[in-house]
Amino acid sequence: MRLDKFLAQSSIGKRKDVRIYIKDGLVKVNKKIVTIPAIEIDEQNDYIEYNGEKVEYKEKLYYMFNKPKGYVTAKSDLEHKTVFDYLGDETKGVFHVGRLDKDTEGLLLFTNDGEFEHKIMYPDKHVKKKYFFIALGNLLDNEKEKLEEGVYINNGEYLTKSSKLEAIYNFTYLDVEEDFKNKYLNHLEYNFFNQKLVKGNITISEGKKHQIKKMLKSVGCKVIYLKRISIGNLKLDDSLELGEYRNLTEEEKNSIFK
Ligand code: URA
Repeated sequence: MRLDKFLAQSSIGKRKDVRIYIKDGLVKVNKKIVTIPAIEIDEQNDYIEYNGEKVEYKEKLYYMFNKPKGYVTAKSDLEHKTVFDYLGDETKGVFHVGRLDKDTEGLLLFTNDGEFEHKIMYPDKHVKKKYFFIALGNLLDNEKEKLEEGVYINNGEYLTKSSKLEAIYNFTYLDVEEDFKNKYLNHLEYNFFNQKLVKGNITISEGKKHQIKKMLKSVGCKVIYLKRISIGNLKLDDSLELGEYRNLTEEEKNSIFK
């Protein structure tokens, strides 16, 4: 196995980080400093050290979590609760795969496998992420096309890659049933009487900060509810309540990349 892969899988850090540690001379193989991340090692028999400590090969852990809003995706935060507040001791050593905004709900993965994280997050891998959104405003056909082709965000500095919109439905607040309001809109502070709204699914294969919100803003819509519903072909398990998590099956893990 490659040295950088071994270290990432052993929870030393993400792949890009462990490469830096190797190049900085912090890693020894059989008592000798090695500075080439791609070098092949024998994970069963070689003696690997990071920062002077033996690296044990760790069992790999994979979890899906249904993130509630109000929690930041970070290991620690001075002001807010974090998604790690939900995790039990058995998940020790895991990190989050990508991020969801504090007010975004839905599918968030945790793992201690840096390779797995890299395969999902690396832009060239094009793993698709699907979100359900509700936004203020309506989406007309030409705006849908614009979003699908790519729109400029970040003050015109970045043109988004193509996306896919599905199940787009324009409606007004007055049309909305009570249970829909309770499920998605009960946090709203304003009176949305007769306000135009749009809901639907959008799939992107990249992950710029606040990307969906910015994309919809570029066509005049303001996201008021956002939930990630799938990553690749892995769907959020509907039976997970907000704040619950469970192990991924082997099949589910592989479905991400199919
Ligand atoms: N896009 C956003 O705007 N927010 C998220 O949390 C994820 C994608």
